[in-house]
Amino acid sequence: MRIFFTGGSGKAGHHVAPFLASRGHQVTNADLTPLRHPDVKDLRVDLTDAGQVYSAMAATPTGADLESPARASGTGSSYDAVVHYAAIPSEFLAPDATTFATNTTSTYNVLEAATRLGIRKVVFASSETTYGICFAHGERKPLYVPVDEEHPVVPEDSYAMSKVAGEAVARSFHARTGADVYGLRINNVIEPHEYAEAFPAFLADPALRRRNIFAYIDTRDLGQMTLRALEVDGLGYEVFNVANADHSVGATTQELIERFYEGVEVRREMGEHETFYSIDKARRLLGYEPQHSWRDVLTGP
Ligand SMILES: NC(=O)c1ccc[n+]([C@@H]2O[C@H](COP(=O)([O-])OP(=O)(O)OC[C@H]3O[C@@H](n4cnc5c(N)ncnc54)[C@H](O)[C@@H]3O)[C@@H](O)[C@H]2O)c1
Repeated sequence: MRIFFTGGSGKAGHHVAPFLASRGHQVTNADLTPLRHPDVKDLRVDLTDAGQVYSAMAATPTGADLESPARASGTGSSYDAVVHYAAIPSEFLAPDATTFATNTTSTYNVLEAATRLGIRKVVFASSETTYGICFAHGERKPLYVPVDEEHPVVPEDSYAMSKVAGEAVARSFHARTGADVYGLRINNVIEPHEYAEAFPAFLADPALRRRNIFAYIDTRDLGQMTLRALEVDGLGYEVFNVANADHSVGATTQELIERFYEGVEVRREMGEHETFYSIDKARRLLGYEPQHSWRDVLTGP
């Protein structure tokens, strides 16, 4: 596939874009800053500018494509799929209104261009924060665990609001054409080197992970999830939780329920270390199966 990948220079993207290239796909990274990876083509694009997005997605991807009349025709798009990761990825990084405007405008522009150019697969980054727990004022518990994609999404913060709005935009563009548009409600992204750096503190104090519903996603498994979303066609519009199979803390499911989730409905029997951030849907519809865990690096109960 020829993939128009946004945000490939970021924390998640700089793992996932080269991973997709390593699996034989041709990847163009549309970002404000270059990735400078030998297997990924950089294109400087400000995604808040609709004209730039449209022009970039319609352009001939590489000089080599000039030799291919079909690719260099100057009409339509050369891309088979879009992966949209670019965003301001949290609260507290920019003024709230800027975060909301940047993320919603970028997502709208990317989806409009992909739709008008006839691209039939868009995979976009949404967030665990849509469930409203991460950036709530004070403590907010999930209504039930495991938290699945049916859980209400009514966040208080501008970042998560931008992701809920992005999902609404994505669903509406899907309604226009029936193209596959899959949203990834990504949990807290963890790079492999962060296990040794960050997780000892999480093991010492599980409360540090309460706002993430105690979950996490390894960048390598996020790569696999993104690849599965690209490979599985025909689902229409769907959103998927994305996490690893276990908690990010050294306590059992039962211990966490007793300490943090008093009064929260536990909807089914759960494994000893099973994540509260349900990945059942991704497993069922995409064949996603996480391969990594902090337990590969550190020891815990
Ligand atoms: N990091 C996490 O824990 C986490 C969790 C859930 C969801 N997400 C989502 O995953 C995606 C990737 O997150 P990340 O942590 O890699 O973020 P990041 O900030 O590290 O990377 C985002 C990239 O987007 C680019 N970008 C931002 N605005 C742009 C614009 N206007 N035009 C072009 N490029 C622009 C940035 O230059 C950067 O390279 C985001 O959509 C984020 O909301 C991240």
